[in-house]
Amino acid sequence: MIGNENNWLRIIHLDTCDSTNDYLKSHLREMRDRLPLLLISDEQTKGRGQRNRDWFSKRDQGLYLSLALGISGKTNLNLLSLCAGVAVRETLNTISRQEFKLKWPNDIMVRNKKIAGILIENMVQGEEIICICGIGINLNHEKDDFPAALRGRSISMKMVTGNPTGSHIVIQHLVRNCFKWFGILEKGEESRILNSVSRSNYFMRGDPVSIQIGNGKTEGSFVEIRPDGGISIEKDTGEVLIFYTGETQFKY
Ligand code: BTN
Repeated sequence: MIGNENNWLRIIHLDTCDSTNDYLKSHLREMRDRLPLLLISDEQTKGRGQRNRDWFSKRDQGLYLSLALGISGKTNLNLLSLCAGVAVRETLNTISRQEFKLKWPNDIMVRNKKIAGILIENMVQGEEIICICGIGINLNHEKDDFPAALRGRSISMKMVTGNPTGSHIVIQHLVRNCFKWFGILEKGEESRILNSVSRSNYFMRGDPVSIQIGNGKTEGSFVEIRPDGGISIEKDTGEVLIFYTGETQFKY
């Protein structure tokens, strides 16, 4: 456990599991009174990514963890997702000075490749929401360790810095940053989150972007990340659309 007398964080470290998010979800009943809780697994046999994709989760290569915490039902969940992204970006920036960018809603990019992803799953329990924030960070992969389909799009800290990165130091910073940014959200200081997002945003105003939701794709130019956590995109017709979910890409 880490924390202080009022705010302990329980930590569970597994050698293996299917998915840290799924493990927490299936054990939530027993764990509900013991939050916040951090689950780390050395590997995942069924790591899950956004949009029902797999998350490549080999032993000794990446960091796979989920943080379960209770949050007020009034929390803006779009901002929660941005907060997690800001916390991961800040963590990687303590280890390397490379420019890590946040690609809305919460992919972490460096050199135009993805280095970390976040899968937030929330469960409503009366007035409270139990948030399971799953984070995967590529730490020690060599380029050829990634499956062929990911090779051109993924990168690891080792490929960025040239050196192996120990998971302990990353976990320490990450937990501290997650609590810092979730605390900022809880205090209602949304402008601090938005400032951090706009400083590290992958897209600049006017950039050609596409956003995909299911099979539907909208193309246009990036306008802004809105104060409520949505993204606005201007179509060629001049119509501005706002999205709260989806996968963004540069439109090339
Ligand atoms: C994404 O597609 O960008 C989200 C990836 C999230 C991966 C992490 S690894 C720990 C946690 N457990 C999972 O099964 N997924 C998340």
